[in-house]
Amino acid sequence: MDKILVTGGLGFIGSHTVVELQNEGFEVIIIDDLSNSSINVLDGITAITGKTPIFEKLDLKDKARVESFFAKHDDIKGVIHFAASKAVGESVQEPLLYYENNIATLVYILKELKKMPEANFIFSSSCTVYGQADELPITENAPVKKAESPYGNTKQIGEEIIKDTCKIAPKLKAISLRYFNPVGAHESVNIGELPIGVPQNLVPFITQTAIGLREQLSVFGDDYPTQDGTCVRDYIHVVDVAKAHVVALERLLKNENKSNYETFNLGTGKGSSVLEVIQSFEKVSGKKLNYKIVGRREGDVISAYADTTKANKELGWKTKLSLDDAMLSAWKWEQKVRYSTE
Ligand code: WQD
Repeated sequence: MDKILVTGGLGFIGSHTVVELQNEGFEVIIIDDLSNSSINVLDGITAITGKTPIFEKLDLKDKARVESFFAKHDDIKGVIHFAASKAVGESVQEPLLYYENNIATLVYILKELKKMPEANFIFSSSCTVYGQADELPITENAPVKKAESPYGNTKQIGEEIIKDTCKIAPKLKAISLRYFNPVGAHESVNIGELPIGVPQNLVPFITQTAIGLREQLSVFGDDYPTQDGTCVRDYIHVVDVAKAHVVALERLLKNENKSNYETFNLGTGKGSSVLEVIQSFEKVSGKKLNYKIVGRREGDVISAYADTTKANKELGWKTKLSLDDAMLSAWKWEQKVRYSTE
């Protein structure tokens, strides 16, 4: 049974990916520093799959600890690297925290992978690298634009670091997965998104407003050149995102990759406006959402949604779950989290 390391494996996308890896028969070891996740997520994973992943609390900024981890686990066949800080707004206020936590840690991991006779690496990237694309839907060939935030910059720099390393380390095979907007929760309602503090992202803010934790959702602008004036994004169910990671890893393990560095967009291929997301939520939850239109948010792009041709054709992967599925699962998860903590 191949052993796979998942860094940030107790996080939102990481935990859903651990479940899918275990479902596929992989042995999973998780590293997480618990700075933006909870150890209880381990129980959620076990409740779904019946298997508890090996877990090590480890701060990847500690180079010596990273070295000794890989020395101890010299049978790791692949690494899926989620561990990173990911709040766009926070990254503007704390750029050095982001450059250290998102870049230095990546370098330490790649140094270890370079020592291996063969290494398979999946990198958590983001459609943020495209900025406001000139053409929609967005393909993997769209130009990477100057990042709007240090967070986005760390994803761009991260991809460059991996690409440069793959050039001099032919035994290192890597794939960057550029997520559009992952949303929703596992259908079992045992794992989901656990934003700490006031949610920055749309969907957790919607569910927290509906459950009464937040007074009202502010919709950041309705004067954009889109169908209803609100921004458009490609909201992809987190379980579809998780499954894509397993498919990408298997591509590398089976040496089916076309080169030792590849990138794939992970999206549904469909754009949804903020108002359409709200309408979807109201439909599946039966709740009327309290929201108001306010001014635009600094740094928001008008519209971003994926051209999924490359992932569909080369990974043989496509999304199976809808926006309604995502909104219903997010709502069920919100109710579970709130009512179980009362
Ligand atoms: C979506 C839309 C907002 C909150 C970011 C990162 C991306 C990824 C996902 C980490 C926008 C609007 C939001 C609210 C609103 N992060 N909105 N009211 O900005 O597309 O992507 O998060 O991996 O890398 O860039 O996602 O959910 O913040 O916003 O109107 O309270 O919802 O203006 O149009 P975004 P988001």
